[in-house]
Amino acid sequence: MLGIVVAVLVLCSVAAMPYPEFQTKSYKIGIEYEHSLPMSAGADRFRHRNNYDPFFITVTARAKKGYVLDYLEVDVTADLGAEIDFCLTYGRVGGQSMVFQISANQSDFINYTYRAYGIREADFDKVNGASLGSLC
Ligand SMILES: *[C@@H]1O[C@H](CO)[C@@H](O)[C@H](O)[C@H]1NC(C)=O
Ligand SMILES: *[C@@H]1O[C@H](CO)[C@@H](O)[C@H](O)[C@H]1NC(C)=O
Repeated sequence: MLGIVVAVLVLCSVAAMPYPEFQTKSYKIGIEYEHSLPMSAGADRFRHRNNYDPFFITVTARAKKGYVLDYLEVDVTADLGAEIDFCLTYGRVGGQSMVFQISANQSDFINYTYRAYGIREADFDKVNGASLGSLC
């Protein structure tokens, strides 16, 4: 009898479990010039134990030889209640590298994927000096 009651309770809690409780934020920074090509990409996932403190991850994206970076796309996922943040700590449109920082608090994990795009250095002359805005 007890066994049946327990089984029913477990089924109910599974049925009532909401859809995955996480959120993904997407960021795009830079300028998407024509003929942009993928330069570098990456993805990682981190467990976060003391999940009330913000957790920071710093990632460096680089251009291939003969190219410069023009834009970055970053997706960051964390628990639904988390505050997710993104900022560029180094780099500009037309540079060899961009360094970005992502953070989340109130989350058991943080994960990200990024894709960096670039154009030929020679094609960049006309847009030299374009700015990404203020650094953090
Ligand atoms: C990030 O986590 C979410 C939720 O668990 C998952 O759907 C997604 O595939 C993960 N992405 C990466 C890059 O690990
Ligand atoms: C962390 O999360 C709390 C509650 O959501 C928020 O009020 C606070 O500003 C966040 N702090 C940081 C440093 O992200």
